[in-house]
Amino acid sequence: MTTIGIVGGGTMGAEIAHVAAVAGMDVRLCDADADRARQGRDRALAIASRRVAKGRLDAADADAAAGRITAVTGIADLAGADVVIEAVPEDLALKARVHAEIDRTVGPEVLVATNTSGLSVTALGNATATPSRLVGLHFFNPASTMRLVEVIAGAATAEETIARAIALAEALGKTPVRVRECPGFVVNRVLVRAMAEAYRAAAGAPVDRRAADRAVVEGGPAPMGPFALGDLVGLDVLESIRSDLVAAYGDRFADADTLTPLVAAGRLGRKTGGGLVPDRDEDPTGAEPGVAAVYYAAALDEARRLAGEGVASPADIDLAMHLGAGWESGPLAAGSLSANVT
Ligand SMILES: NC(=O)c1ccc[n+]([C@@H]2O[C@H](COP(=O)([O-])OP(=O)(O)OC[C@H]3O[C@@H](n4cnc5c(N)ncnc54)[C@H](O)[C@@H]3O)[C@@H](O)[C@H]2O)c1
Repeated sequence: MTTIGIVGGGTMGAEIAHVAAVAGMDVRLCDADADRARQGRDRALAIASRRVAKGRLDAADADAAAGRITAVTGIADLAGADVVIEAVPEDLALKARVHAEIDRTVGPEVLVATNTSGLSVTALGNATATPSRLVGLHFFNPASTMRLVEVIAGAATAEETIARAIALAEALGKTPVRVRECPGFVVNRVLVRAMAEAYRAAAGAPVDRRAADRAVVEGGPAPMGPFALGDLVGLDVLESIRSDLVAAYGDRFADADTLTPLVAAGRLGRKTGGGLVPDRDEDPTGAEPGVAAVYYAAALDEARRLAGEGVASPADIDLAMHLGAGWESGPLAAGSLSANVT
């Protein structure tokens, strides 16, 4: 049986622990200390209970899965695991330290993955003595329901490592999509580009943001418009990703300073209340100056760039947007639809 070590039992680590335990793997979960590891295990068990309550998981399977998750004290307790997945906060220095320790602890035959949303797998590999066995496995939140996993090879990642990572994602019941390393990978790059352009198009004029969101949903394959989506993701998280993408690709990710003042004011979207979608009585009525058309044109342009750069195949880009962002069809296949949006 596969033993999987998970480092970091927060939002993503707990979800991945749950998924692995339900898939029949033995899970050893560690965090910054033993208490937090126990909290991470509790979080994983709570995910199982919620899914049982919703009728998505059998109670007996949840019990069996709970018995397969052990909270351990630290990375030292992961020696002997077959696979280690790191899910500590998105901070390069912290992740580099953690990967150096994982690398010293587990044998060179162990597959090591990082669940980074956008940091360089190559840079993390450089913090270790065996970068060939490190791979990016970008799960989507919540990992218990989202099927997509972006599989990212760093410059030194071995072909065998990628093959093992793909097999692991499949064993976890996920659909892996292979992505060449680039800031934002596929899904975040397409979505954040489209969102930033939509925010730019809506800046400086009274725009009914609810109407703009509706026009996006009615006019193309996306399940949610850019304003509601920003509020759902959390504007602090979105702004951090977007500013990294501006640094990497320049002004096509600029948002006409839409997010910064909201983040500074602590209006982060659903988790705090307040955000991009205003209270009902604050929204100007009527005006939707082509935001939906801008949104889909930007998504299509970014998807074409990704394909042109060879980051992923056109079919995989569309599959990633379908499974990772809930688009009915991907931007490349749906490209002609954008012409129908007014
Ligand atoms: N939340 C999301 O929607 C999402 C989606 C995809 C990827 N990610 C990525 O997953 C990673 C984790 O994100 P998250 O949202 O789960 O964060 P989180 O803050 O919920 O969890 C991080 C966990 O790591 C623990 N931790 C901190 N330092 C540690 C250390 N030195 N050793 C062991 N554990 C340590 C924390 O105590 C915490 O439990 C990040 O790289 C993030 O970018 C997040």
